[in-house]
Amino acid sequence: MGMNGAIRGGVHTAQQHDSAIKHVTGRAEYADDITEPMGTLHAYLGLSEAAHAEIVSIDLEAVRTAPGVVDVLTAKDLPGSNDVSPVGKHDDPVFAEGRVEFWGQPMFAVIAETRDAARRAATKAKVEYRALRHVTDVAEAIAADYPHVIDPLKLERGDVGPALEAAPHRLKGSLRVGGQDHFYLEGMIAFAIPGEDDEVTVFSSTQHPSEVQHMVAHVLGVPSHSVTIQVRRMGGGFGGKETQPNLFAAVAAVAAKKLGRAVKIRPDRDDDMSATGKRHDFLVEYEVGFDDDGRILAVEGMFAARCGFSADLSGPVTDRALFHADNAYFYPAVRLVSRPMKTNTVSNTAFRGFGGPQGVIAAERIIEEIAYALGKDPLEVRRTNFYGAEGRDVTPYHQKVEDNIVNRVVDELEARAEYARRREAVLAFNAEGGVIRKGIALTPVKFGISFTATWYNQAGALVHVYNDGSIHLNHGGTEMGQGLNTKVAQVVADCFQVDLEHVRITATTTAKVPNTSATAASSGSDLNGMAAQNAAEQIRGRLVDFAAEKWGVAPEQVVFEPNVVLVGNTRMSFPEFIKEAYMARVHLSAAGFYKTPDIHWDRAAGKGRPFYYFAYGAAVSEVSIDTLTGEYQVDRVDILHDVGRSLNPAIDKGQIEGGFIQGVGWLTTEELWWDDKGRLRTHAPSTYKIPLASDRARIFNVDLADWSENREPTIRRSKAVGEPPFMLGISVLEALSMAVASVADYRQCPRLDAPATPERVLMAVTRLQGASGAAA
Ligand code: MTE
Ligand code: MOS
Repeated sequence: MGMNGAIRGGVHTAQQHDSAIKHVTGRAEYADDITEPMGTLHAYLGLSEAAHAEIVSIDLEAVRTAPGVVDVLTAKDLPGSNDVSPVGKHDDPVFAEGRVEFWGQPMFAVIAETRDAARRAATKAKVEYRALRHVTDVAEAIAADYPHVIDPLKLERGDVGPALEAAPHRLKGSLRVGGQDHFYLEGMIAFAIPGEDDEVTVFSSTQHPSEVQHMVAHVLGVPSHSVTIQVRRMGGGFGGKETQPNLFAAVAAVAAKKLGRAVKIRPDRDDDMSATGKRHDFLVEYEVGFDDDGRILAVEGMFAARCGFSADLSGPVTDRALFHADNAYFYPAVRLVSRPMKTNTVSNTAFRGFGGPQGVIAAERIIEEIAYALGKDPLEVRRTNFYGAEGRDVTPYHQKVEDNIVNRVVDELEARAEYARRREAVLAFNAEGGVIRKGIALTPVKFGISFTATWYNQAGALVHVYNDGSIHLNHGGTEMGQGLNTKVAQVVADCFQVDLEHVRITATTTAKVPNTSATAASSGSDLNGMAAQNAAEQIRGRLVDFAAEKWGVAPEQVVFEPNVVLVGNTRMSFPEFIKEAYMARVHLSAAGFYKTPDIHWDRAAGKGRPFYYFAYGAAVSEVSIDTLTGEYQVDRVDILHDVGRSLNPAIDKGQIEGGFIQGVGWLTTEELWWDDKGRLRTHAPSTYKIPLASDRARIFNVDLADWSENREPTIRRSKAVGEPPFMLGISVLEALSMAVASVADYRQCPRLDAPATPERVLMAVTRLQGASGAAA
């Protein structure tokens, strides 16, 4: 800040999303809105109708001769490799060959003059299958000795066996937690425009342009330099567009190169939901030993996940589940194993939290089990087990928790939300024995920030200052609604001390910033903010050197004030100053780079420092259930969340609200259901229920822990925000659980599985009433 006050739109100020008005007025341009060149063709996928089968024959004659059809592509038409596996396992074919491994697997693509013609033609294939045994459920997969899609992980510290033996109390249980469809508003899309020689440009709705580039290149059999991927924005990604866009982009690119015309592919919602991966559902088995105070002495856990037919990101997802199976609690002795099970379902993938939520929910269930066993308030058991001082600060993966603020966050939230008073009121209300019962729960989150694939923790940016003083900003991150571009632009505006409107945010493209990582693991602003700052600082450094020399002052006398540069006693507007620099031939463009320091991870040993830091938060939720129907509502939510020093409090609050609601959807109404043929039957909004505006809590208080500051030198001491608040939704599940438990006087932990649909709540109520002989 200088004598003219402050710039408009600097860091640590609440700014609206740069596209907010465009989003709500329909003027934000998505891939499907790009003006199509003359002669654009449309592709549609033909999907399998068997969960696991040999393809005996496939007759595409009726497809080829259908009206408007220009071409049909199968595996044989791919000039390069028939594989889009993001992890190099070669187990993700573009088109199934010889056999299909899940219902809805792409087998061919129709290219036609219109999308409608392509879609109609795709249904005309005659396929003969020889059915093979199929398994869709994770427990069945274990029973059937199905393989792991990738090596399991084991995390171990201390001597679990003896610690369990010696514990005054022990209990075992199991938990099932369902998957989740991303339900981004904009579905998958790719739009390919062929260029000369091997060149092709693909507009892809992807969180990971560089990977799409590499996959398209492999499938085309050309070097990466021939392929350019561009994405201005996505209409939501949530992890669903980390690897899943590869196939769509490859199909569009192959067709475009083969036919020499632009090709667009956009599946409809049913096909998008059937043919693309989702959140992994988990079966968790746990055993815990604890003392009379509820202090945990040992934990053993097995985390089995429905991975689907291929590896995709199941390795890192199930790893992250183990990394978060402690949540905010210290386990003196612990052994955790993952079981990434193959199933004949679509290959599951990244989804907000990336396996972390499935770990955290197990930790919270364990706490709840202990609390019910001892007749304590679960919050007391939580506090007893929080990470603490030396000796109680080591995670199951041997990283020390050095930035623990969970106690302060929970204490403050407890006071703000009046948890103690309200819990008393809930208990009193339930004691009256009515049909409606209430529950309240406070759950914390501690979430590790960094990609566990250490090399992913790098980013690049490109900044140009044009000679009129306007600034062009590009970085490797992608915008999916989370506000990344706004935050990074704020960083650059701050660096040059110009109003935010002078910084132009531009589409992400592999031609400007190469070898980027997925915008994922919540690290978009940490990584790209730093890279952009690095680029801006290089230019600013050159400007300072130039000015000091030209005006004969010390470098310290070149001061960037809001929209003005002061050189000694000479005061110039930023554009005037830049004009001078340009005339003096100062290089006004720079590529920036950043890599996260101090992280390492040895998977084989299960040891390291995989996370640069942790983000913390807590939520209190209060719910009411109807014990006759199982219906419920969330009455009130209070959240206190840690984003370090917020780069943009408005956007961060939006992320917390959205993340929380999406977490609640995962645990309450969003249910994926496969029939016994292995066909997903919940593949449209008619059968799959995401939260509605009317489902929100009537009282919803969201606050940032504004005293928090990242102890690590992250971008302006902020913390990542995209995923951690998702796990605060667990407070709603626990509150539902308490309401259910009230029908049997809280003597039993209801062991409510997720999603806790009204049906499941009702069954849990009925079960407890049966067990206790109580009447409703
Ligand atoms: N917010 C919106 N509006 N849309 C999204 O698709 N994705 C989430 C989160 N918030 C998402 C979102 C996920 S899964 C991640 S990893 C982060 O945003 C990614 O962005 P960031 O790293 O810039 O926070
Ligand atoms: Mo988020 S699941 O890391 O894209």
